[in-house]
Amino acid sequence: MDMRPEPFEPPAPQPRTVPPSRLQIIRTILRNPLELWGEPSYTLPWIETRFFREHTLIVNDPGLIRHVLVDNAQNYRMADVRQLVLRPILRDGLLTAEGAVWKRSRKAVAPIFTPRHAKGFAGQMLGQSELYAGKYEAGTDGGAVFDIANDMTELTFAILAETLFSGEIVSSSGNFADDVNALLHRMGRVDPFDLLKAPGWVPRLTRIGGQKVLDKFRAIVRNTMDQRLARMRAEPDAVPRDFLTLLLEQAGPDGLTNEEIEDNILTFIGAGHETTARALAWTLYCVANTPHARAAMEAEIDGVLATGADPVEWLDRMPWTRAAFEEALRLYPPAPSINRAAIAADRWTSPSGEVVEIPQGITVLIMPWTLHRHALYWDRPRAFIPERFLPENRDRIDRFQFLPFGAGPRVCIGATFALQEAVIALAVLMHRFRFEMTAETRPWPVQRLTTQPANGLPMRVTPRSGGARPG
Ligand code: HEM
Repeated sequence: MDMRPEPFEPPAPQPRTVPPSRLQIIRTILRNPLELWGEPSYTLPWIETRFFREHTLIVNDPGLIRHVLVDNAQNYRMADVRQLVLRPILRDGLLTAEGAVWKRSRKAVAPIFTPRHAKGFAGQMLGQSELYAGKYEAGTDGGAVFDIANDMTELTFAILAETLFSGEIVSSSGNFADDVNALLHRMGRVDPFDLLKAPGWVPRLTRIGGQKVLDKFRAIVRNTMDQRLARMRAEPDAVPRDFLTLLLEQAGPDGLTNEEIEDNILTFIGAGHETTARALAWTLYCVANTPHARAAMEAEIDGVLATGADPVEWLDRMPWTRAAFEEALRLYPPAPSINRAAIAADRWTSPSGEVVEIPQGITVLIMPWTLHRHALYWDRPRAFIPERFLPENRDRIDRFQFLPFGAGPRVCIGATFALQEAVIALAVLMHRFRFEMTAETRPWPVQRLTTQPANGLPMRVTPRSGGARPG
């Protein structure tokens, strides 16, 4: 008989039982869109609805998702609200490019994100995680409280800065991480005028001052590119093989323009660290509340590290650690919504013969947030049960019911990088420390670009007596 206690149900808004008024919708979208969704979004396979004048199809059915993201992907473009928020910042970077520009860029950038290159970054991921663990060691003195949400952002930023530029950022302000935070928080917000579809020339109050930050930021990226190009010419055999060099090597008539390289650097900074950081913080929080999972992870991590295994192998050799991270990605998907618009009218027929008409122009919302908590597809959807993702159970999960990284031609190009980074960071941190609850650890998920804990995530960090340094 299984004597395990009831699984932990981490905090999340209850589905709404009464539809919100128009005013409530606006307020909730601005404050926390995760609180918007009603019971039907968590129980029905698809819902046709209207947000203001916007004709919208909410899609949860894995077959219909596959149709939109893969089988007929060419009929769907990025939805307007997402583009209004992100395109002014990222321009023709991969996340926001469309049509022929996106196709050429994806082809040029794909070789940089092969598993072989991700593996090449394992050393930097380990090095930066150990440096960060060293900071904890200096600060814990037998146990201290840290804001884990902030710390994981610092750690993943350090890893990104190392793998992107080998730390060679030409920043005038001295603290590039602060520049990044200012940019993400000033620019990347939905404004009431975006929802009301006001034309682009109407100033967005929430973004005032953001353009100045963006200009400064782009100047830093351009300077860094120029310096690296000069080095590539002067000492071609001695330049680091980081993302910057790999991207600059893709310049040319069939590859990327200089502006597109700049846009993609900004895109990797925007898409490539806060996402992983959020999921890492949620993992540590959920694991702190699930003792048997923590024990399994600690045993697995200690065991693999004792063999001196290369960090390149950790992702494959730590199934519990990977499963806990994936379960956190399920409950708190860093990208909670994947939005598309239908270019032409479309139709999908379910295996039982139901027909879904998809009119031209309709917005299609595929929301990992509701899909991952959906009553039709998950047992105990609100509970943290990492066992679901262990290799022996994994094939019970449909490819299109778990979409933290999206799917189809526009699937996240950094997924392997993020998974490897997360397992290495978790292994280093959990080998050396325990992360525990305090009376103040009461996170509430909010959607602000990513799914993050409102007001941070304070946790007690205590050195583990048995945990020796890896390597
Ligand atoms: C846990 C971490 C991450 C999550 C949850 C995540 C999630 C996603 C999702 C859902 C998409 C698809 C969006 C759509 O179809 O509309 C996406 C696209 C993308 N991601 Fe990630 N991502 C993560 C890490 C990264 C990293 C580490 C990088 C780069 C260093 C990255 C770069 C990108 C780029 C460039 C795209 C656009 C791909 C395209 O449209 O061709 N992401 N990501």
